[in-house]
Amino acid sequence: MDPYYQEVDRVFSAAARVYDERIGSNFINRHVRDMEIREMMRNAHKEAKMLEIGCGTSQEASRIMGLTGGSVTCLDVAQGMIDFSLEKMRRLGLSGRYRAFKMPAAEVGKIGETFDLVYSFNGALNSEPDLENFFRGIVQVTEPGGVLLLSFRSRFCLGEWLYYRIRNDPDSYRSKRGEYVDVGVVNSSVRVRYLSLKEIRDLLPANFRITRAIGLGILFPPYAASRVKWSLARKAVIAVERILSLVPVISGFGDQILVTAVRVS
Ligand SMILES: C[S@@+](CC[C@H](N)C(=O)[O-])C[C@H]1O[C@@H](n2cnc3c(N)ncnc32)[C@H](O)[C@@H]1O
Repeated sequence: MDPYYQEVDRVFSAAARVYDERIGSNFINRHVRDMEIREMMRNAHKEAKMLEIGCGTSQEASRIMGLTGGSVTCLDVAQGMIDFSLEKMRRLGLSGRYRAFKMPAAEVGKIGETFDLVYSFNGALNSEPDLENFFRGIVQVTEPGGVLLLSFRSRFCLGEWLYYRIRNDPDSYRSKRGEYVDVGVVNSSVRVRYLSLKEIRDLLPANFRITRAIGLGILFPPYAASRVKWSLARKAVIAVERILSLVPVISGFGDQILVTAVRVS
């Protein structure tokens, strides 16, 4: 396997056992996942056949399987994540509707079957160096009418930009615009590339049409969560985030962007 994928495998495999606890203890991360599940529910019919790219511990897969009664096939480059997710599904009694394979996103086309809904959430695509091949593969694993949902770490987050402006430290912010940036994952880090909606739009095959794009973590990126201590204040932050995600233009400036695209031909 390519040395870059080997590094992603090493870092995420080591994080697998603590990943759910880390994500679950952060109220903005929980809000982001709730928004993603909500968007999935708008697009997934009962017993949908779904494919997840970069599943991690399969937090979303277990939720959506419970809500739709559908099946999920997962890909991830980290063997530790695959093993953890298989064990979790056994514990939840969902193994019969769940499969997981070690494979990079760029090779998705090799799966050799099609799905109703294909999704990748919370940054797996930021650590995929060959997005051209990934999108070519997406055509092979969908049919007209199929839905693609992607969330990715974005180059421009409004709250973060304002924060560094107020601190008069624009250089710290600019690092996000670079080609590759080291991002912390539990006790280690991986090199990722932030993406913009325009880049995704340009890469998306012509037979897909974007029907919705919303920001997640627009004023408060997940790392700011620990600064909001009171439960009432947290509720207010979530309310503001929900409203901002509906405001055109502003919504495009989240810590992540969640894109919904439908295959039209
Ligand atoms: C930040 S985690 C997100 C996990 C999960 N989707 C979630 O929302 O909690 C990223 C996951 O994607 C996997 N990943 C990263 N780059 C990948 C790639 N190029 N191809 C496949 N999986 C990848 C990692 O191993 C990790 O499990």
